[in-house]
Amino acid sequence: MMKTITVLPGDGIGPEVTASAVRVLKSIFSTSNRNVQFIEKKIGGAAIDAYGTPLPQETIDQCHHSDAILLGAVGGPKWNQQSMQLRPEQGLLGIRKAMGLFANLRPVEAFQALVDASPLKQSFVEQVDFVIVRELTGGLYFGRPSERLGPNQDRVVDTLAYSRQEIQRVVEKAFQLALKRRRKITSIDKANVLESSRMWREVVNETAKRYPEVAVTHQLVDSAAMQLITNPSQFDVLVTENMFGDILSDEASVLTGSLGMMPSASLRADKVGLYEPAHGSAPDIAGQGKANPLATILSAALLLRYSLDMDTEAAQIETAVRQILNQGIHTSDLHVANHEDQIVSTSEMTDHVIHAINANRT
Ligand code: NAD
Ligand code: IPM
Ligand code: MN
Repeated sequence: MMKTITVLPGDGIGPEVTASAVRVLKSIFSTSNRNVQFIEKKIGGAAIDAYGTPLPQETIDQCHHSDAILLGAVGGPKWNQQSMQLRPEQGLLGIRKAMGLFANLRPVEAFQALVDASPLKQSFVEQVDFVIVRELTGGLYFGRPSERLGPNQDRVVDTLAYSRQEIQRVVEKAFQLALKRRRKITSIDKANVLESSRMWREVVNETAKRYPEVAVTHQLVDSAAMQLITNPSQFDVLVTENMFGDILSDEASVLTGSLGMMPSASLRADKVGLYEPAHGSAPDIAGQGKANPLATILSAALLLRYSLDMDTEAAQIETAVRQILNQGIHTSDLHVANHEDQIVSTSEMTDHVIHAINANRT
């Protein structure tokens, strides 16, 4: 049966990195006899320019008729002055919410070839292999009211709201994931201050009873931020509230050498998912062919694994990426000390990945 992947390139380097991932996917589908169609739609600033809204109905409808969505990034200086509803970022939040994608998985794995690229000591980074499970459709990002108040509009409120069920379903995903890994969960909250965190902790402890084989610890978010740097190899699966997860994931990306290395999968109960790099639209390097496409290419691997049941092909992408990095080939965002290294452009890196996948298959 034919599968449909909707591509939402977005803004800045978004179109460059999604083009790379689409090329990798097309190469894989053509050699594995899979019938997959790609349909491109607009989101973010590109959609504001074309339709006057960051998330046109047409884009939402197309996503609802897809097996998977591949997204680049949204936002940029051009749209920074817009009112909140018109900002590109609302398009991204809107599609996550409209699709009900409540669990955002962000794997953090230290590639051996890149341990020098992190500002941290090699010994801290070497063993790093964990996944952040970030709640994606609730919490501070979506709580209402979120507005200016008072006669002079000089009071402001944002709301951190969760239902027990919203916490339950993402925590459940984290436990399921832990079963396939090293069976350790760290739940991150601010239970010493926030009521929402106290309920979060309750739900984690209740769920833990059904998973006796999984070891559970709780950490406060401030101390977790410190431990991500001082003892990152302790972590296996981290599960946390939307905004905590947003902040901690950029921090964690430093362990991999660059924000340009961190993929993500946004999932729900069925197999439909949205896949995007954790980084943004990088306006400072957009259009220069400098963007690291690996976060998006690795997101495409997650797409194959979670939405299309193509585990073998997903692993082929991951192996190819590892091999190329081991050869000292990388984009300019990775500051590796080795002078023999070869710095390549976005499209050259993509060619290398495709070539390595094909070479490994024959
Ligand atoms: P950013 O992630 O776009 O960039 C941060 C830094 O990392 C920049 O120096 C950038 O050049 C570098 N960088 C990021 N991705 C890279 C890659 N693939 N290759 C090489 N270098 C890379 O964050 P920002 O500058 O704070 O935000 C820019 C815009 O992106 C804002 O409008 C923001 O809202 C938006 N944003 C979007 C998403 C998303 O669409 N998922 C995520 C984060 C930020
Ligand atoms: C991310 C981004 C988004 C978020 C922004 C652009 C809305 O930072 O995907 O991490 O905060 O979720
Ligand atoms: Mn973020």
